[in-house]
Amino acid sequence: MSVIKGYQIQGILAKGGMATIYIAMQESLKRQVALKILDPKLEATILEHFLEESRIIASLKHPNIIPVFDVGRVGIHFYHAMEYLEGGDLESRLAEGISRNTALEITLELADALYLVHSKGIIHGDIKPANIVFRSDDCPVLTDFGISKRTDVFGNSQSQEILASPSYASPEVMQGQSFNQKVDIYSLGVMLYEMLVGEKPYTGANHTEMVANSIREPIPLLPENLKPLQPLIDHMLAKDQNDRIGDARMISRYIKKYLRDHPDATKHQTIHNSDIEAKINGDVVLEYVSEDDSNSKMQVSINPTRTLLPLLIILFSVIVAVSIWYFVI
Ligand SMILES: Nc1ncnc2c1ncn2[C@@H]1O[C@H](COP(=O)(O)OP(=O)(O)O)[C@@H](O)[C@H]1O
Ligand SMILES: [Mg+2]
Repeated sequence: MSVIKGYQIQGILAKGGMATIYIAMQESLKRQVALKILDPKLEATILEHFLEESRIIASLKHPNIIPVFDVGRVGIHFYHAMEYLEGGDLESRLAEGISRNTALEITLELADALYLVHSKGIIHGDIKPANIVFRSDDCPVLTDFGISKRTDVFGNSQSQEILASPSYASPEVMQGQSFNQKVDIYSLGVMLYEMLVGEKPYTGANHTEMVANSIREPIPLLPENLKPLQPLIDHMLAKDQNDRIGDARMISRYIKKYLRDHPDATKHQTIHNSDIEAKINGDVVLEYVSEDDSNSKMQVSINPTRTLLPLLIILFSVIVAVSIWYFVI
């Protein structure tokens, strides 16, 4: 079958609400590629945006961003051809359990990729495990920039993608408020939590209940053995955008520092659900005060007033004391 000239379709990799991903042979180069063809019934503006965005993504050169080889339109079919990734997606890997080391390395690499995306003024808008696909050497690659990151589609809550994956959507998106690149940081935070703990931070009997819980429940605590990572989770999952990390490089820096400080603690330890239950049921540290200097640096850079306020109070008290001493004595 050859819907798109120059590509021989060999099979279907996945079929979503808006597109089908095929594995195909690019005839000119005799190589296998993944071919994403949008559902021709989608609105014309969405189809046009897909082409525009595919071109932007093609210009992003990063080892953790999907390389797009070709983009175009043949009749009613809008498509792009990209590197075929053989390692399956993160959603399937989550089911098997992921080691702490791997969870952190995946997050670190994705944060680096997100920094580049955000620096180009692009919001991915649909960071979730199904959109992270691995190369055969296990390198995680960010995919599916096609539709939902468009602020106009995404912002008015009409994206089926967003309705289909509310577990990763930030409170501002779920409440239809204005948003920025921090929605991606939130989603990456949900993924990091899920990889570390083996379950999502918020659950519910149905989507509505889960969304309500994600808005009103406090950010869950990590098991005791992961507590140095709590400040990172807190600042990725912050419900208020003002308290959330905006610069994705901060995440990679934090993780690099953590891995340097805990070189052995994170190696080859697959977390199984039974371990997690045992740890969660054990002593839970309710107030974590970081001993790690990277944590305090992170807090300063995210919310300087929190750290400066006590200093200002001390300074004010000293001024008052000196004034009293001067006038009274
Ligand atoms: N380049 C690729 N190589 C291999 N598999 C891919 C590739 N891109 C996507 N997939 C697979 O196809 C699925 C759907 O692709 P995606 O681009 O996310 O489409 P949709 O818009 O339907 O979500 C992914 O979850 C992944 O399993
Ligand atoms: Mg997808």
